[in-house]
Amino acid sequence: MKKIIILISGNGSNLQAIIDSCKSGNIDGEIVSVISNKENAYGIQRAMKAGITTKIISDDSFNSREEFDKTLFSSLMEIEADLIVLAGFMKILSKKTADHFYGKIINIHPSLLPKYPGLNTHSKVVKNQDIIHGVTIHYVSSQLDAGPIIAQGRIDVNAHADIEELINRIHQVEHIIYPKIINLICKNDIYMENGNVNFKNNSHPRGYICNSYEI
Ligand code: GRF
Repeated sequence: MKKIIILISGNGSNLQAIIDSCKSGNIDGEIVSVISNKENAYGIQRAMKAGITTKIISDDSFNSREEFDKTLFSSLMEIEADLIVLAGFMKILSKKTADHFYGKIINIHPSLLPKYPGLNTHSKVVKNQDIIHGVTIHYVSSQLDAGPIIAQGRIDVNAHADIEELINRIHQVEHIIYPKIINLICKNDIYMENGNVNFKNNSHPRGYICNSYEI
């Protein structure tokens, strides 16, 4: 069974969806560790409740960014996981970490990349009166939110949508597609080869249309 590490910084609702999917057998993998860079991240409680090993690598407890990066890198090396899942991890990985684990780290980002990399995606959608919004799951590279795209989930946005509503609807999509994609990666149905994302014959999950789920 594939070993999964999950990196979080906050609430951990995606972590919860992944925990639930592992428990119900919908992900053919085991979460071996949850690492947070924030001591008070609620996701840590979720992990502990599920009996998963947790680790805090708090950015406040290091004198430099380099020390933090070194500690995170050696923790990831030590655990020897098959897959590293960023689930609301609000820290940019060092180039060394991103390069070393290239093809093994995935992230979920709340926008239809390449549109809106970085923060505050929902407010940008509202401000620009976009009519569609969504989430992107991608392999992590050393360029922020720019690694190869694995899948996207799309929602329609109505003219009166506010940020709260978008956050909720985006979370609903995330909780469906992130576990599905993680399962496909655990089964080797999705993999990276020569920098490209490959899907083993017709392994696309139900609802997967043109690289996008419509919810
Ligand atoms: C998600 O919206 C994810 O796309 C983004 O951070 C948020 C984390 O939410 N990267 P949660 O902590 O999983 O509830």
